[in-house]
Amino acid sequence: MIKTHLDQQILSIVIDRPEKKNALVQSMYKDIAIAIETAQEKGAKVILMTGANNCFTSGNDVADFIRNDSQGEINDTYRFMVALLNCQLPVVAKVEGLAIGIGTTMLLHCDFVLANIDTKFAMPFINLGLVPEYASSYIIPRTAGYLKANELLLLGETFDVNMAKECGIINNSFDAESLDAEVTTLIAKLKAKPLEALVASKTLIRNQLHGVQKHIDDELKVFARAMQSDAAIEAFEAFMQKRPINTDIYK
Ligand code: COA
Repeated sequence: MIKTHLDQQILSIVIDRPEKKNALVQSMYKDIAIAIETAQEKGAKVILMTGANNCFTSGNDVADFIRNDSQGEINDTYRFMVALLNCQLPVVAKVEGLAIGIGTTMLLHCDFVLANIDTKFAMPFINLGLVPEYASSYIIPRTAGYLKANELLLLGETFDVNMAKECGIINNSFDAESLDAEVTTLIAKLKAKPLEALVASKTLIRNQLHGVQKHIDDELKVFARAMQSDAAIEAFEAFMQKRPINTDIYK
């Protein structure tokens, strides 16, 4: 479900579960984490994250939310979060189709994000009775301002590449015909840079976000509590039963 391929110093990590729109289960987070953790020692200089079948990811597998206790969720997802957060190599995300939930929030920790013009983004945690994760409630207000952050995180609606660009989530968007070429050109530019300076520069840029790791930990505690809430349980059941959420239960 996670395919990796190292070629000419480019480590491609492909989220490959097309029958579920590349929804992420625990073993997939673990596999991505291991790929990132071992990238440098294997000789990679740039990491490319993509999804199979022209779809990035529909986010965390909702059935997996139900299957796992909150501790398990946090442990495997957490390893992936920390691996990406601490990754010293430049990470490029090629985003197409859907970037939902953690599919959007992981982009905040990539270094370059190029998207297909038709990509749909969403951080719908609020609609599932959940709260933001992966420091999105820390980073988005800083990159987009509080008002836009409120739109994205308190309404949880789907948004397009224009909004994603305005909020500092993507670098740029391209039509399907030119996206691959743009990604290739960008990676060639990165590969042509001196590795040591590249790594040191990324570290300096990311070090400005001193509070991110602490914020991720704080958020996860709230997230774990929210996972047990009536609103979350109802939202998960509604998704599984392919029916609308019964909002009458909301206070
Ligand atoms: N978790 C588990 N299964 C998912 C999934 C997810 N996040 N996203 C999609 N799937 C499954 C669907 O249940 C469906 O499975 P089935 O064929 O066995 O019924 C299959 O993937 C195809 O999805 P479908 O809903 O038919 O595709 P769509 O293009 O009509 O809609 C989405 C795509 C992403 C809008 C919709 O599937 C969705 O809302 N998914 C949930 C997103 C979500 O809440 N993510 C978690 C955020 S925290």
